[in-house]
This record gives sequence, structure tokens and C-alpha cells, in this order.
Amino acid sequence: MSRGRRNSSLGQLSAPGQGPDRGPDPPNDQPERILRTLSEGNGLDNFMYDEAFLGRAILRRRQAIKLPDALSYNEFLLASPSEALALRESLRIHHSEFFRNPLTFDLLEHRILNGLVERKESSGAPEIRVWSAGCAAGQEPYSVSILLQELSEARQRPVPFRIFATDRAEDQLVLARRGEYDAAAVGNVRWRQVNRWFTGRGSAFVIAEGIRDQVDFSVYDLLDERGCCPPASIFGEFDLILCCNLLFYYRSEGRRIILNKLRSCLAPGGYVVTGEAEREILLDAGFLPADATAPIFQGRG
Ligand SMILES: C[S@@+](CC[C@H](N)C(=O)[O-])C[C@H]1O[C@@H](n2cnc3c(N)ncnc32)[C@H](O)[C@@H]1O
Repeated sequence: MSRGRRNSSLGQLSAPGQGPDRGPDPPNDQPERILRTLSEGNGLDNFMYDEAFLGRAILRRRQAIKLPDALSYNEFLLASPSEALALRESLRIHHSEFFRNPLTFDLLEHRILNGLVERKESSGAPEIRVWSAGCAAGQEPYSVSILLQELSEARQRPVPFRIFATDRAEDQLVLARRGEYDAAAVGNVRWRQVNRWFTGRGSAFVIAEGIRDQVDFSVYDLLDERGCCPPASIFGEFDLILCCNLLFYYRSEGRRIILNKLRSCLAPGGYVVTGEAEREILLDAGFLPADATAPIFQGRG
């Protein structure tokens, strides 16, 4: 059965393009100037953010505190550390769901992962290595862990795999390790899988230990140019990298740093998956589409 958006009765659906991180709107509200204020006051370097994304966040904050224009907001920001904090927080978007883009996960399940397993087995490689880059509270890496666990069972022999999941937000990783989700997060999970891989705790859904134990969470900033792969993984060489719904928050310099990183730690013939709205970014950067219908790309073999 294909995954549909909200095909169970577990929660509310936001229509495609209406989620909290649907991507940048047109620029407004002088983001450069306000950003300078924000960075000066707090020693922050937020200059990598996409201008339109910043403009939208600033406009929202300005309207929330009912200031008439960008100039007055800038002055208020200079005088108010708590507003600087509020603006900074509003730039951090952590929304995620299990099997967030159903078509992409269908393709992973029915085509990509099977092919990877066969290739690995025939080459005698020890394990499939996966990286979820910008994993938020763990919904994405746990979705892949479920698929690989089910693939093992279908093949009636273990498929060895390791999933490294990183985010720069430590608070998200605390949630990820806890593995406890509300109904909205599991709205795309099949009923059979909810029963199999989650247990109930009050109104929460708790991920099964066997799925959680396959994922190694660590803090890692994708804009950190000191290394090419997350230190926890030691040497990168990932067969599958998911870097979904974060590239579009950055301007070209930030995207370049992140994409170079993905390229340099992808195993030969490995795959990169992004969010639907990020497909063009990868195509422009020369990544080769592995499929015409989903944002899945393949490195050169
Ligand atoms: C909108 S969430 C997407 C989560 C998940 N990948 C998905 O598609 O559902 C973006 C995540 O990327 C993380 N992120 C953004 N910029 C990052 C960076 N430079 N380094 C590491 N993580 C980053 C954020 O902290 C956030 O948890």
C-alpha cells in the first residue's frame, strides 16, 4: 500500500506547501540591516540564511509586536535582548514527520534500498551506511531504520546497517533519543507499522528499542568547514544521505558548503535525498537525478 498524506486517523494534515517550513517567500523588511543588528548584539553569524526566509521571519516578529516598519523594528531589536532571542528562535525550524515525503519513502522502500542491499551483498561490503543530516527529533532516521529492519525480515537474513543522525540543535537530539512522538508525527505511518514499531505512552507514540538502537545521534553543524563528515561516523562513505528541508533556508554560500560536504562523504554510487522543494538546488549543483518523480540523486559509481 502506498503511503498517502494523512491516510490514517492519527492527526491533522498540513497540505503540501502549507507546512511550517514550506520554503522562502519573496524578500521584504530589509533583512540585511536587521540581521546585522541581530548578529552584532549577540555575536551571531546568521549571514548564511536565505534572504527571503529571513525577511519573512522578521516580518512575522514585527507584526507580532505591532511595530509599523523595519526601521522601528531594528531600533527595538537593538534595545531588546529578549526580542533578539525571539527572532533568533523563529529562524530555527525543526518541524518533521515520519515518512515525511511519502513518494520519496515509497521509492526508497521499493527500489533504492533493495538495490543497495543487493549491491552491498555482492561486493561483500560489511554494512549499509546512512546519514540523516539535519535529523530534527529523529523522525527521519527512524523512518529509514524501520524500512531497513523490514527489509531484513523480508529477506529472511539480517541486513547490517548503521544510521548516523546529526543536527546542530542539541535539544532536538535529546527529543530524538527519547523517541516519543505525538499523533501528528506518525500520521504517515501505516497502521501495521504503528502497531509493530511503536508503543503507547498516554497519548504519545514511543519508538521501539530495536529501531532506536540502530541510530547513532550526535551534534554536528553542516556549516562547519573543519571536517567533511560527522566525527561520529569517523570516515563518512555513506551509501545513503538524507538532507531534507534545510538547504532552502540558506543562501548560495551556505548551500555550497553543505553540498560539498555531502558530495565528499558519499560512497561511490550512493544516494542523496532532499526535500521536494530542494530538487532544483541539487540539479543546479550537478547532482544526477536517480528518479524523475522524487528528489533522489545518485553519486557517480
Ligand atoms: C525543518 S527540519 C527538517 C528535519 C528533517 N530533515 C525533515 O525533513 O523532516 C531542519 C533541521 O535541520 C537542522 N539544521 C538546520 N541547519 C543546520 C546546520 N547548519 N547544521 C545541522 N543541522 C541544521 C535544524 O536544526 C532542524 O532540526
